[in-house]
Amino acid sequence: MNKLLWILACITFIYAGEPISPIPLHHGADIKKAKLGKELFFDTILSKDNTISCLSCHDLSNGGSDSRTVSSGFSGREGNIQSLTVFNAKYNFKQFWNGRAANLLEQAKEPLNNPAEHNMNPQALEEKLNNSSYYKSRFKKVYSIDTIAYAYILDAIVEFEKALTTPNSKFDKYLREEEELSEEEKEGYTLFKQNGCITCHNGINIGGNSFQKMGTFLEYKSQQEYPDRYDVTGKKAHRNVFKVPTLRNIALTAPYFHDGSAKNLQEAVKSMSQYNLGLILSDEETKKIVSFLNTLTGEMPKILEP
Ligand code: HEC
Ligand code: HEC
Repeated sequence: MNKLLWILACITFIYAGEPISPIPLHHGADIKKAKLGKELFFDTILSKDNTISCLSCHDLSNGGSDSRTVSSGFSGREGNIQSLTVFNAKYNFKQFWNGRAANLLEQAKEPLNNPAEHNMNPQALEEKLNNSSYYKSRFKKVYSIDTIAYAYILDAIVEFEKALTTPNSKFDKYLREEEELSEEEKEGYTLFKQNGCITCHNGINIGGNSFQKMGTFLEYKSQQEYPDRYDVTGKKAHRNVFKVPTLRNIALTAPYFHDGSAKNLQEAVKSMSQYNLGLILSDEETKKIVSFLNTLTGEMPKILEP
């Protein structure tokens, strides 16, 4: 992008009021359906060999993602990209790093059917759940159906994901004027805005609302190919373009980047400024930005309480 346009975009963001909005206090999901979805999310019954559940790669007690560089799934087969968090995913404009799923419903089909993940087709899923007297009665109670159809399985999982929001982070309370930030955290937020991080990481998810290139200012060289935006559009300019990931709960979701190459937040912030802003940040500036990022950890979703 042209540097002048870039500076203009930054100025617009700095003066257009708060560019980040707090997560709503109520998620609005249907609790009965969400609770059934929670059971499915945790249950290995959804995988062909009863070894994998959604939880295997989305650790809900630790940020909703996976601490491996890339996820592994069915029979230990290695996946091809770092896992994303399921927390607050409903606020993303598209799902997956390359946005190939339009919404959570379209998204959920993929891990279930993927041979490297759950390795189940819709018929096999229906058959397995209809053979379970437990799930037959659960679905009857929640959806008033006698036979479990694929669409209902997906619906329950999606409803659970809609309940996976993390409100009340220190930063959200600051935005609502309920809590102060420390000097260091506040300076970190100012640097985040002034340097232009905010042009890509903004809105309710502090990301999740646009596709951007990894390497806007300095070419990012990958060791291998990853499913990037090019895979969806076939346009050469979309190599290394990804959905900007959310920075909500970012302190909990190491390692970072699509290739899991940044082991901690310091490294991630330094790489971001180099590759996506053409800046070398001092250790002091990096530390302040990391302090700000640490204020983005929210309350764990109520639905996860036993
Ligand atoms: C084998 C590991 C694995 C399993 C099992 C798995 N996922 Fe994922 N999930 C991933 C990875 C890796 C990504 C990122 C893939 C990509 O973007 O190409 C992801 C992405 C997602 C996203 C998109 C988030 C975003 O910001 O775009 C959602 C939502 C999600 N998974 C939900 C689920 C659900 C629901 C299940 C169970 C039905 C599930 N996952 C099972 C590894 C897994
Ligand atoms: C040009 C848009 C853009 C700018 C500017 C930008 N980012 Fe990013 N950010 C991205 C994209 C795209 C990714 C995903 C990159 C990847 O995985 O290859 C990302 C990833 C990250 C991640 C890792 C998230 C994860 O879950 O793996 C962090 C942390 C981050 N950015 C912080 C920052 C900070 C701090 C700044 C300012 C110093 C900044 N970003 C500036 C677009 C941007």
